[in-house]
Amino acid sequence: MRVFSPPIMIGHVVPLGPSSSIVRRMPPSHATEQWNSARHGLPMTYGPVDLIVLGVGVMIGAGIFSLAGRQAATMAGPGVILSFMIAGITSLLVAFCFAELSSAMPASGSAYTFTYVIFGEVWAWIVGWALLLEFLLAAAAVARAWSRYAAQMITDLGVRFPEPLAGMVGQAEGFDLFTLLILVLLTAVVALGSRVGLRALWIIVIAKLLAIGAVIVVGAIHFDQRNLAAIPVPAAPTTNTTNIADTLHSPLLGIVFGQTSAFGWFGIFAASAAITFAYIGFDVVATAAEESKDAPRSIPTGIIRSLIVTTVIYIAVALVMVGMTPYNKIDPDAPLANAFRQVGNGFMVHIINVGAVLGLTTVILVLLAGLTRVMFSMARDGLIPRRLARINRTYHNPTGVTLLIGGLAILLAEFVPVLILEPLVVIGALFVFVAVAGGVIRMRQTMPDLPRGFRTPLSPVVPIASIVACLWLMVNLQVITWLYFILWMAFGVLVYLGYGRRNSVLAGVRPPAELPAVIPSDTGFRGRHRR
Ligand code: ALA
Repeated sequence: MRVFSPPIMIGHVVPLGPSSSIVRRMPPSHATEQWNSARHGLPMTYGPVDLIVLGVGVMIGAGIFSLAGRQAATMAGPGVILSFMIAGITSLLVAFCFAELSSAMPASGSAYTFTYVIFGEVWAWIVGWALLLEFLLAAAAVARAWSRYAAQMITDLGVRFPEPLAGMVGQAEGFDLFTLLILVLLTAVVALGSRVGLRALWIIVIAKLLAIGAVIVVGAIHFDQRNLAAIPVPAAPTTNTTNIADTLHSPLLGIVFGQTSAFGWFGIFAASAAITFAYIGFDVVATAAEESKDAPRSIPTGIIRSLIVTTVIYIAVALVMVGMTPYNKIDPDAPLANAFRQVGNGFMVHIINVGAVLGLTTVILVLLAGLTRVMFSMARDGLIPRRLARINRTYHNPTGVTLLIGGLAILLAEFVPVLILEPLVVIGALFVFVAVAGGVIRMRQTMPDLPRGFRTPLSPVVPIASIVACLWLMVNLQVITWLYFILWMAFGVLVYLGYGRRNSVLAGVRPPAELPAVIPSDTGFRGRHRR
């Protein structure tokens, strides 16, 4: 395979490359710190602890406040604790892989950029398109969940919404005012630049952790181990291949291996796949690479430490939840709050409401910010319009792409049943995780000498185990999720063929003078942020 390796010149666009998009690969030097610092203009914002806060801020959210209880009630019973462990171990294996690649290529594009360097442009686009699905749909779905918790919080305080407002807040589908307001507000926060967002993030993450700490401590007081012993009997097999609706809603595993069922081991694995949603976000930390101090070291530790903190918190909350309430009495719609209601502790309901509203706020904020960084990278590479990569001189943020993403998230949240489509977030993420783990194996072969701030332990065992674990979780997702995912990816390939293939910076179809300035000379950013 031919590899295009032009000289790097600060202040110049990438020289012309090979015309075939199949063989186009980004030279590793384009993805490294020096290159990016010279051309992106994003301010250096995050220190090592900020990155852990970022990770915890984006991970702890709907997964624990809503999804855990739903999965315990309908799929895994007390086995949901095992589901959290399975999804957590899978995420940790993948996190090691993310850590190695982001330490070698600390670039905003994260998995998209890694794939560009390791596998080439076509795969990079495919991974970028999957990231778009993952982050955008997750932000939209969590915004809906936020609205439901916000409406519940207000109602639980005894406030009644006047008509017709009552029908416009906390809705699972149809127009929802709170969803709109939170997405507009957080898009504005992202657009104002990462420093504003970081201050808010710290405050809200601390408040969220205090609320969750209260859930664990007070929940432990109401813990009854007999609830854990109530192991549900596996339900009747769900795969009935003569009924198309049953088939579509069965895990793919059910089609491949015969039958699956709720509860029992099949239920625990199906719940693990769904619960992967709760861990989504450790990968977002990598998108902060170009704004992080000492990124080759701080990003890997940020990813791994935030994931470990989150995993411990999740398992503790899940344990408390299934220890407080028999699994068949868990309310799938408001599991934690109802668990406390059932043990007669109404005060904790308010704490959970506040914790959920705050917690989901930071999830949406970081998802939107992370996606702007990925799309900014794709725009910088010409795979989407390059003007989207322009940095606003006042806020030092790619405003165009931020507004585009905020707008798309609003459209998606308001007009698509995003809560039902949540598993698509998981399949998109797992697909990206497989690409990243594969990237570690490939990069060890093709670029053994590329400097890395972190090396995945026991490679290639850990990357291979990551791939197997992710594929296993993927086959535990429903057939309909696979079909939607295939459709989304096929649409993405068409978009690439129609635009990115011809406009890619590496395609060299336009003379450098026509391309937007790499970095405006009067921003004062050139060379200021990195030494
Ligand atoms: N992990 C995030 C959540 O659970 C997406 O809300």
